[in-house]
Amino acid sequence: MITDTTTFDVTTARRLAEQRMPAAVTAFVNCEGTGGALQANLDAWADLAVRPRVFVDVSESDTSTTVLGQRIELPVIVSPFALATYCDPDAELGVAAAAARAGTRMTLSMGGTMSPEEIGGVGPFWLHLEELGDRAPMTDYIQRGIAAGASAICFTVSRPIQPLWSSVMLDALFDLGFATRDELAPEVARASSRRTFTWDDLDWLRDVCPLPLVLKGVQTAEDARLASERGVDAILVSNHGGFMCDETIGTAAMLEEIAGSVDGRTELLVDGGIRTGADVFRALALGARAAMIGRPALWGIAAGGADGCARVLEAFRDELAVTMAMAGARRVDEIGPTSVQHRGPADRR
Ligand SMILES: Cc1cc2nc3c(=O)[nH]c(=O)nc-3n(C[C@H](O)[C@H](O)[C@H](O)COP(=O)(O)O)c2cc1C
Repeated sequence: MITDTTTFDVTTARRLAEQRMPAAVTAFVNCEGTGGALQANLDAWADLAVRPRVFVDVSESDTSTTVLGQRIELPVIVSPFALATYCDPDAELGVAAAAARAGTRMTLSMGGTMSPEEIGGVGPFWLHLEELGDRAPMTDYIQRGIAAGASAICFTVSRPIQPLWSSVMLDALFDLGFATRDELAPEVARASSRRTFTWDDLDWLRDVCPLPLVLKGVQTAEDARLASERGVDAILVSNHGGFMCDETIGTAAMLEEIAGSVDGRTELLVDGGIRTGADVFRALALGARAAMIGRPALWGIAAGGADGCARVLEAFRDELAVTMAMAGARRVDEIGPTSVQHRGPADRR
């Protein structure tokens, strides 16, 4: 139970969430079945030390910024995740309320349990899009999102195949009563089939969608350059929290590579293993305009609904403000490449 005096960081939210969630939900959310890329994400952030500065007047601190021209009070945006309803009955409604309270955005998953219309009534949001075999339902979904007030499209691009349907995930879904093995068989077959979308198909997406476009899942400098050349508005550097390919490096290392390869017009975002305000600081230092979070938001709603998620976002804000003060940054645009350094071998945690 959350009380007003509970120190409420992501670790606390996770502990409380795991006390409340059935084991199958914990397995689904944490998805630690394989774990290599998930651990790589955590390690890559931990490898960056903050460089403290002295004699800077940091009595005023401002964590606000803009992403895609949209002002947010906190450079932390909620990533899309499916099936949030198993964490808390309010599901994405709770996340949307918490994000609105924190003055930021949430991204409604296409596999979410709430509709764009429901979320639009609660607060500002981005709409998540997945590739479907058929374009018509994608267009319909985009139109519904626009009508409901979505202010960007976040398109998941790195799923040529769908190894997400690992046995851990599937067992969790069956345990939850989400579906029987027979019911899910066609979906697994569809999801496991190879996708056909290519760079040229982005023109189609541009034609049907006037909203700013965020590509979620770009992981190399080569692809970032291609995205930037095609005028993509933002790249979300992401390995989907380690769910997709377990053989990748951490997203902090990807971001570092990518930041040097795109022109300033394409904004950068990053998710995967962001657990503290100090990690948000590290992301901004490497060139991201904002960091995004998946599991921390889910642990927040599982721990205490909209309030729990709001408390998680508050913790990110407090921790970011403290890290900024230590590093002599009064505003987020004062965070830059010299704000962090790689740890030496003797220093690794
Ligand atoms: C339960 C769960 C479901 C997810 N579902 C999706 C999804 O449907 N599509 C997608 O692109 N990413 C999905 N993700 C990945 C998140 O969008 C995000 O990239 C990831 O959670 C970030 O890493 P973090 O959890 O370490 O913060 C999901 C993540 C979780 C935890």
